[in-house]
Amino acid sequence: CERQDGKPFRQRLLVVANRLPVSAIRRGEDSWSLEISAGGLVTALLGVKEFETRWIGWAGVNVPDEIGQKALTKALAEKRCIPVFLDEEIVHQYYNGYCNNILWPLFHYLGLPQEDRLATTRSFQSQFAAYKKANQMFADVVNKHYEEGDVVWCHDYHLMFLPKCLKDYNSKMKVGWFLHTPFPSSEIHRTLPSRSELLHSVLAADLVGFHTYDYARHFVSACTRILGLEGTPEGVEDQGRLTRVAAFPIGIDSDRFRCALELPQVQDHIRELQERFKGRKVMLGVDRLDMIKGIPQKILAFEKFLEENACWRDKVVLLQIAVPTRTDVPEYQKLTSQVHEIVGRINGRFGTLTAVPIHHLDRSLDFQKLCALYAVTDVALVTSLRDGMNLVSYEFVACQEKKKGVLILSEFAGAAQSLGAGAILVNPWNITEVAAAIAQALNMSSGEREKRHKHNYVHVTTHTAQEWAETFVSELNDTVVEAQLRTRQ
Ligand code: ADP
Ligand code: G6P
Repeated sequence: CERQDGKPFRQRLLVVANRLPVSAIRRGEDSWSLEISAGGLVTALLGVKEFETRWIGWAGVNVPDEIGQKALTKALAEKRCIPVFLDEEIVHQYYNGYCNNILWPLFHYLGLPQEDRLATTRSFQSQFAAYKKANQMFADVVNKHYEEGDVVWCHDYHLMFLPKCLKDYNSKMKVGWFLHTPFPSSEIHRTLPSRSELLHSVLAADLVGFHTYDYARHFVSACTRILGLEGTPEGVEDQGRLTRVAAFPIGIDSDRFRCALELPQVQDHIRELQERFKGRKVMLGVDRLDMIKGIPQKILAFEKFLEENACWRDKVVLLQIAVPTRTDVPEYQKLTSQVHEIVGRINGRFGTLTAVPIHHLDRSLDFQKLCALYAVTDVALVTSLRDGMNLVSYEFVACQEKKKGVLILSEFAGAAQSLGAGAILVNPWNITEVAAAIAQALNMSSGEREKRHKHNYVHVTTHTAQEWAETFVSELNDTVVEAQLRTRQ
């Protein structure tokens, strides 16, 4: 087996994540087309090239019939992907329910959905049962494809039960688990009815990773306070067995963005956008349409800025690109109509016959158009209420070598720890502060912009997805060797 650059792969890596890097769309009884999936997890893992990777996950679609399953399995195999087939009921209870209505908001400090609190509490047990069942289904597929020596890397809050299922199959399997969201304070985690079972299951892994040191610390505190285990500088110890816990900040494949910017098609897009927004400063938001991204707060802050800075009204435009996500979860449906309502109101208030202040698109942009958009942007606005890392901020920086635009970044995004010195940090809940940050960014001198950009650019181009994965996997290999030596002593 060889990599694209001709060198041999270092190791076989089984990446297990709820979502495959491609989502399947059915075109006929036995024909499928595949589209790239959105989200930070997919973006980062696509940047990993050193390993012979097999990706195991859900293709985002219900395939009840055998013909369809066979055809999809074959189509995915060409992309080195292996599907886990989940039926509608499991998806409803496990993915829409336990993962996205309970764990996701809780891990982002948003609590349970307000209007739904009691209903959620009642359906909790059945959703947790479906969660465990789904995790077991992932484990069955992993076990079927596992070969001795493989590294198994489990990802995210959907699969917290998976490390235990895998070790039950084979205690010698090298298992790592990485969380792409924040891990909240132990006081938040302890409100979860299944708090202990989830922690114990994660601890079955050999190595547990988080984006930041704070998230790792919260996890260790949850294990010591809720489970009564011992926290050590290396991790968590349970009856002599150590689970390593550490921070591994994720990155992007920055070369992919740099190279894309040189393509003639991307240069054409850049020229079109420059022509379209001539004479106006471009502000940009790119997010999944998720409540954690603080999109309503961002738009309200922009309104406040327009209110207080009349001279800027026809000289600036906000482009908000928001790809719909998890559309079967009621909370997300409410968010879509809320955002549309606010955008409509502000455009009615400040728009003219020829121009509107906010262009809001509910859709995904293809990679080349996204790169062009990042490149022409003067100010990027990332106002997440909480965010594990936020790779959009990294992508923006990677595309700004020429323009040296300003990044306004939420202090509640993991990226604030790495890009904080170059960005303007804001509390997204304080719209007056965000409005002032917009004014500061638009009026910033070129010298100041250059200095801030340089700081962030160096970080983004040196702390890449590739480096992140290599560090995690070599740490996992070392951890297993050390554990073997300890048991032999
Ligand atoms: P999350 O993982 O919560 O979605 P990140 O900012 O870490 O947040 O990652 C989002 C990824 O999805 C980025 O790679 C970004 O380019 C991509 N993405 C988000 N919104 C869009 C969109 N509207 N069009 C295209 N890609 C998008
Ligand atoms: C975040 C999560 C990922 C998830 C992505 C997209 O990045 O950490 O695990 O894949 O959002 O969400 P979706 O529900 O569409 O997979």
